[in-house]
Amino acid sequence: MPAELYGKRRNSAGFEFGHRQSLETLMAGIGKDASAIQAKPLIPGGNASGSETPVISPADHRKVVGSVRNATAADIDQAFAAAAKGFKAWSRRPVEDRAACLERMSDLMEANRDRLLALLAAEAGKTLDDGIAEIREAVDFCRYYASEARRLFASPVKMPGPTGEDNRYLWRGRGVFACISPWNFPLAIFLGQISAALVAGNAVLAKPAPQTPLIAYEAVKLFHQAGVPEDVLLFVPGGPDVGAALTAHSALAGVAFTGSTRTAWAINRALAAKDGPIVPLIAETGGLNAMVVDATALAEQVADDVVMSAFRSAGQRCSALRLLMLQEDVAEHMTKMIEGAARELKLGDPSMADTDVGPIIDEKQKAMLEAHIGDMEKTQKVRYAGKAPNSGSFFAPHIVELDKPAALTKEVFGPVLHVVKWKAKELPQVLADIAASGYGLTLGVHSRIETTIKTVTEALDTGNVYVNRNMIGAVVGTQPFGGSGLSGTGFKAGGPAYLQRFALEQVISVNT
Ligand code: NAD
Ligand code: ALA
Repeated sequence: MPAELYGKRRNSAGFEFGHRQSLETLMAGIGKDASAIQAKPLIPGGNASGSETPVISPADHRKVVGSVRNATAADIDQAFAAAAKGFKAWSRRPVEDRAACLERMSDLMEANRDRLLALLAAEAGKTLDDGIAEIREAVDFCRYYASEARRLFASPVKMPGPTGEDNRYLWRGRGVFACISPWNFPLAIFLGQISAALVAGNAVLAKPAPQTPLIAYEAVKLFHQAGVPEDVLLFVPGGPDVGAALTAHSALAGVAFTGSTRTAWAINRALAAKDGPIVPLIAETGGLNAMVVDATALAEQVADDVVMSAFRSAGQRCSALRLLMLQEDVAEHMTKMIEGAARELKLGDPSMADTDVGPIIDEKQKAMLEAHIGDMEKTQKVRYAGKAPNSGSFFAPHIVELDKPAALTKEVFGPVLHVVKWKAKELPQVLADIAASGYGLTLGVHSRIETTIKTVTEALDTGNVYVNRNMIGAVVGTQPFGGSGLSGTGFKAGGPAYLQRFALEQVISVNT
């Protein structure tokens, strides 16, 4: 990548879990403030009434993390009215001011790391290493988009033209954006969308997933502290009904959505049906992600990378490995190694440093996974079923052997690895089967043959391709992330062409 696309920015520092003193300080920090959070809409002029719903920890159903009061229809109208006013002033502020707010937000998140980490564990069931990675990603999004905004939007570009004419090309915010996010990255994706929309000059109505409103509420308050006015970033909590009301509103100027393909279709339909301006949709959706492994791959590395990609984060990443395609000659040996490594994973309390796999987000998702395994048992072979703790919404890693790739027809969002064998010479069919799913988010390849790697990577349009490594945890500014087809509109978060999707171009031609 040319140096000017990467800039001088550095990503946030990692955490050394092996360093005893740092770990002790971290554990003391996350245990410090366990007070319940009461989240509510943050809408200037809004009506603060309505009933509260408790937010229960997925790891321990006896633990109430806080409560949330969702936005009403009247709140939503008021939010659009307030944000329309906020947009006017915000969009005219120098890009430098807006970028500086994002950078202060990054600093505030770093200063509040332990509290955010505790909330990620309690509300979303994130293990500590996943939580640290998520906070780092959120911090990096803000700093990256700040530096990108300076590069792209800071001053109008003088265009070439005839003598006696001055042509300037510039970018403006679009208006009031709805940012609608999923529960599986309740901080990083929630803030990634918001920070991109804000720095491009928009006002934002931020709707978190109904499972994770508390961390989102805390993040919005930090953004206000960082200098973003309350009528520019508004918090609009609620479920699908609130999302549907936002996307049907006539005053909407754009939507950034991350979630399931099914919901992206619903939003597309809502946008097509409504009156008013034509509204762009930035959609980042699911995947039926495959990894192709040939007989030359290094077995130990494959086992490590498969376990990391399929089971860590309890498989609750859009990037996670769902379909492992093993060349027949090595399939049994490699599956045994993967099964052995899966047995070693420790499931349990996500706020303990030695936990590898936390809970599933809620009972509904857990029931969906149980039903899937029930279906698989009827026609395929469930080769390994791990043991899950009884308390909380836990579901242990599973390995299912499929007779053909088409036996898996949908994204199964959890720690279930499906394995298919292929024979030498069948690689073209393997690639055709992957393409036939219609998804295009992540793809893994393990091989020591250059031509095989080239054949696989060139055959598919998948958004993020990982060769001889695991296939999760894209790094902001290094591995811009996003897919196409059933996996989204193709624009890559954390990449050099993302911010433009949130802005309008304008050309001013002056006869001098
Ligand atoms: P979901 O589609 O059920 O919900 C996502 C958000 O959309 C939530 O805030 C929800 O309340 C809202 N919503 C639901 N119905 C709506 C409607 N009709 N109109 C407007 N908003 C509506 O997804 P989820 O279960 O929260 O998240 C898991 C999904 O997200 C998986 O499919 C996963 O692959 C995907 N995901 C994709 C990426 C990516 O970058 N491509 C990242 C993370 C998660
Ligand atoms: N960006 C996240 C990952 O790559 C979803 O795992």
